[in-house]
Amino acid sequence: MLLVLLLLLLLPLPDPWSAYGHPLYLRLPPSTLQVLSAQGTKALQAAQRRARWAVQRMAREIQHRLRECQPSGPRSLRPPNALLQDTPEPGLCGQRHPGSTNVTQAHGRIVGGSKAPPGAWPWLVRLQFDGQPLCGGVLVATSWVLSAAHCFEGAQNELLWTATLAEGPQGEQAEEVLVNRILLHPKFDPQTFHYDLALVQLWTPVSPEGPARPVCLPQAPREPPAGTVCAIAGWGALFEDGPGTGAVREARVPLLGIDTCRRALGPGLRPSTMLCAGYLAGGIDSCQGDSGGPLTCSEPGPHPRDVLFGVTSWGDGCGEPGKPGVYTRVAVFRDWILKQISAVPSSREPSCRELLAEDPPEEAHAAAAPACAFYARRCAGPGNACARLAHQQCLQRRQRCELRSMAHTLLGLLRGAQELLGPRQWLRRLAPVGPSPWLRELPRAGSSAAAARPRRPKPELHAKEHGCPGLESLQQKLAALQDTHAWILRVPSEHLAMDFHEVLADLGSKTLSGLFHAWVRAGLGSRQLTFSGLVGLEPATLARSLPRLLAQALAAFRLAAQGGREPEGSWRSRRSD
Ligand code: ARG
Repeated sequence: MLLVLLLLLLLPLPDPWSAYGHPLYLRLPPSTLQVLSAQGTKALQAAQRRARWAVQRMAREIQHRLRECQPSGPRSLRPPNALLQDTPEPGLCGQRHPGSTNVTQAHGRIVGGSKAPPGAWPWLVRLQFDGQPLCGGVLVATSWVLSAAHCFEGAQNELLWTATLAEGPQGEQAEEVLVNRILLHPKFDPQTFHYDLALVQLWTPVSPEGPARPVCLPQAPREPPAGTVCAIAGWGALFEDGPGTGAVREARVPLLGIDTCRRALGPGLRPSTMLCAGYLAGGIDSCQGDSGGPLTCSEPGPHPRDVLFGVTSWGDGCGEPGKPGVYTRVAVFRDWILKQISAVPSSREPSCRELLAEDPPEEAHAAAAPACAFYARRCAGPGNACARLAHQQCLQRRQRCELRSMAHTLLGLLRGAQELLGPRQWLRRLAPVGPSPWLRELPRAGSSAAAARPRRPKPELHAKEHGCPGLESLQQKLAALQDTHAWILRVPSEHLAMDFHEVLADLGSKTLSGLFHAWVRAGLGSRQLTFSGLVGLEPATLARSLPRLLAQALAAFRLAAQGGREPEGSWRSRRSD
């Protein structure tokens, strides 16, 4: 201990007073620290979501493998909440919250009907593009939302989409989830809206404690008879070309027969993939912004349930007399939907989110990067030319994804920095400072990167390799993933905040790229750390240096956690001061 103290005192710290009596350090102003803290917290949350997702993905891969090996059913591996499975069983879907049913009436003549009570539609999802609500969607499984393909025309970058799930009957908060993947129906025709259907995979599955629940899919490619009164819901406009609404609205509309639909809508109606519903008298209809949302009919019986028969697609105006609304026929797409939902994760090219969730794979460890497994799936083994090519393909796709996401993150950061700093004013607020007391206690830069490995948490899924080839290697990968991400998975969400306390830039250390060496003091929950980084001192260089500083902070916390500098569980017991 004494030795460590002695070493710390002898560290070659920069001399703050050496340049003609001028102080050599500049402290970044609180506004910049706030930007860093806010962005750092976001980065932490994203890192935790990514870590959870990567572990869950591997766990799902193991479940798939087990199912293949034990076709008669590994019942013990079912998730505790059977309502929220990726292929909901009949009867375990379409259940509305008690108290929120039987309230929908065909009200007056307002397009879109009346305001729905909170929690009335547990499967209704709102889809946002770059923060703007654009379409509705319907939760059909724990991490899958059905919507209309036309919602994603020209907007297929999944990194920009988020989904807001249903709120609860007591106003329980709606969960907002990132989108992982968007699958348009391969036959979607943007001219005719033929096959107007898309599946959206959520980045994190719906939480079983939350109010969101999946709707039922039809059992057969048939709809209830014409005249059956069904329900539509969404945030769409109250009249044609009107604004969207802040609250969910609902209405009851009868299904219409094919001939009536054809007569009303002409050849634009393709009965093989479209159905129509509404009133020929007009007045009650879905409208712009409702697209992708549900048309559900309740199935009576001892356990009444709501079944999804349509996805809002198009109309001729909204609520016009003689022009009922058009909905994509869900019943005929049941097989396509189930096939997509139950596909093994590695059978699909990885999404940008999946690729960016993992560290860039080194060739030697490419096999351990689950997202890259897709490219190497046809190669006989590791190390050969095929595997090298697969690795290259994976890296190239990752680079394209990085560019996409970086462009977006940088824009966000620049916006944030500009709002807080204002043009050039912030420079005046940079106060020259003397050495801070904490500078004396600095460890040598990089020394926080202790090499000790964390204790490996136990894999969550155990199963015997016996009779199930490949299972063991999947389990090893799961353990490795849990190992790698343990540092962030262990942080309880209430501690998941990054706090930049101080950034001291050494004025005598300008690099060729115009950046300055700086000491950064930051906290993550109760853990405090100091590390060195590079920072710009002009708006342009500062904005450029922030993302790297954030990445360094994340890396420093990860290394500190993995170095085991704090006993496990200390998140809970210690408070920050
Ligand atoms: N295409 C519209 C949307 O994108 C939905 C229109 C539904 N129109 C109707 N009259 N039913 O939101």
